[in-house]
Amino acid sequence: MTITLAPMEGVVDVYMRDMLTRISGFDLCVTEFVRVSQVVAPKEWFFKYCPELAYGSRTHAGVPVHLQLMGGEASVMADNAAFAAELGAPGIDLNFGCPAKTVNRHMAGAALLQWPEKLFEICSAVKKSLPDDVPLSAKMRLGFEEKSLALENAKALEDAGAEKLTVHARTKLEGYKAPAHWEWIAKICEVVDIPVVANGEIWTPQDAIKCREISGCQDIMIGRGAIARPSLAREIKGGEFAQWPEMLEWLEIYCHMMQNTKRQKWGEGRMKQWIKLLGRTYPEAKDLFNRIKLVKDPAAIDAMVRSEVREVGLCA
Ligand SMILES: Cc1cc2nc3c(=O)[nH]c(=O)nc-3n(C[C@H](O)[C@H](O)[C@H](O)COP(=O)(O)O)c2cc1C
Repeated sequence: MTITLAPMEGVVDVYMRDMLTRISGFDLCVTEFVRVSQVVAPKEWFFKYCPELAYGSRTHAGVPVHLQLMGGEASVMADNAAFAAELGAPGIDLNFGCPAKTVNRHMAGAALLQWPEKLFEICSAVKKSLPDDVPLSAKMRLGFEEKSLALENAKALEDAGAEKLTVHARTKLEGYKAPAHWEWIAKICEVVDIPVVANGEIWTPQDAIKCREISGCQDIMIGRGAIARPSLAREIKGGEFAQWPEMLEWLEIYCHMMQNTKRQKWGEGRMKQWIKLLGRTYPEAKDLFNRIKLVKDPAAIDAMVRSEVREVGLCA
């Protein structure tokens, strides 16, 4: 079984990948999408989304990071993929799931699920542009507004040369609303021969078992559940749940990194975002969030987290 950390724009960046892969359980990460429109993006752009390119495209814990591209123009996607591979990306993933209106209006992301032939065109152009040792994967939703093309889309991606397919088991219209339709992943598995990765609504180890049972997939991808419960992948593989004192130590490292970034406001936002999401699992994080939510200075938030670590340490 492999567990992939889901790409999440504005959430899973180099810092979050670092933290979650250190907490362990993940076998692979995928970057936030790099938006491709008319030209080959400059080198800096790829390094912005995937700073790990500078050190072997792995997180500090050694987990490989594949680079995700999103766009609707086959030849430009192919050129960008080839350039990303040249820069050292160990794998390319194609985004056919983004529900954002601006993206969909420009015929990219989930909008493309309305035309299997377009998926085929993009995916095969990218495949042709990549060296043999750089695998190509694709990530799709079940459809745009309904699911009637789900199987055809999956087949188109396989026929075009995708070596792996991640299925986020919802349509664009269903957004992020539960449930995820894991039974549809099973239908997709029946029509393709490439490995399929099941994704959507895995929040607990029990969800992972159920998802694997219903979808028939060994491999899973986890997004929001990994942010809210950072030891989830580790637990699914038989490891321990991270109790609050352990979680707080990770949070201390993270807040320290955020406090030291050049963009203060951004660092403040990221600290608050993670602490808020941790509130889904840890009542202590809810309490901490209520205390920091109005604090604007990242150094002050960092100090509050550190004092919490000392307090919990003294209680233990
Ligand atoms: C804030 C946010 C940002 C996301 N960004 C991306 C992205 O850049 N690329 C992508 O393929 N999917 C993206 N997704 C979708 C996730 O990768 C995943 O498919 C989805 O959240 C369902 O999995 P989950 O229920 O485990 O969260 C994003 C989801 C969220 C909530």
